[in-house]
Amino acid sequence: MLVYTKQNDLKKHLEPLIDSRQTIGLVPTMGAIHQGHLSLMQQALEENDTVVVSIFVNPTQFNNADDLKKYPRTLEKDIAFIETLSDKIIIFAPSVDDIYEGETIAQEFEYDGLENQMEGVNRPGHFNGVGTIVKKLFEIIWPTRAYFGEKDFQQLQIIRKMVQKFRLPVQIVGCPIFRQEDGLARSSRNELLSAEAKQEATLIYKILKQAREMFPESSLENVREFVTEEFKKHPNFALEYFEIADEETLVHAIEKKAGKKYRGFVVAHIDNVRLIDNILLN
Ligand code: PAJ
Repeated sequence: MLVYTKQNDLKKHLEPLIDSRQTIGLVPTMGAIHQGHLSLMQQALEENDTVVVSIFVNPTQFNNADDLKKYPRTLEKDIAFIETLSDKIIIFAPSVDDIYEGETIAQEFEYDGLENQMEGVNRPGHFNGVGTIVKKLFEIIWPTRAYFGEKDFQQLQIIRKMVQKFRLPVQIVGCPIFRQEDGLARSSRNELLSAEAKQEATLIYKILKQAREMFPESSLENVREFVTEEFKKHPNFALEYFEIADEETLVHAIEKKAGKKYRGFVVAHIDNVRLIDNILLN
């Protein structure tokens, strides 16, 4: 298993591969690796000659110093887990200094308003931080393809927008949400839930599926009301938001329009844990 901690060493390794036109797949992560991450790596392995997985807790995308401090850092365990999938994956686990070179600040991005919806509302600057690190990674690795989960659908669309704006020569691959058998979307935060809360959290996907079922025959208002009422029946849950938005613009949908794809986005809290999920409705 190759593990690089310095961008220059990784670049040296990749240069001859790029020169000989080998394809490189990149899976950016912040570590605390779980099955959801592995599903992205699996797809990258199938589609590329070489796969690089970055593990970097990116300080510029946190708006809360405490959150950043508390973020799990389990590099040894992560490497061992990734190795169970393939020992051919190259790990890039740089230090903050190696990446930011003394200037831990985010570049400012304009994502045509995508940044002002949902996850952008209460986390000012978050998507500038995400854009900054992802662009830096692209410019170190020059991947052929980069893999992002639909679990963070807004992030995926924002990366697509950034690539388009800067005309970066990388193909962005959106990967399906990896769910447990009971439907709960895999997340490192699931580990913070009690056994009962974990069980109850399966409700999120159940409600999303019901919303998808009623979508063709119902108004958007009725779907929204249904979801809100369902969550109210479970007092252990606090619904932060349920949003139905056009997949491309992420703007709150007022009425259904032909040819558009709509997604339901939910953030709900249980046991003081913030869970995020979404579903394609049509
Ligand atoms: P992180 O939260 O570690 O997630 C890394 C990637 O794994 C993201 O693309 C995320 O959408 C995907 N992912 C997580 N859980 C998933 C699941 N259950 N199914 C499918 N994909 C899943 O997202 C980040 O890190 C960071 O913002 C990053 C892009 C690395 C930039 O710092």
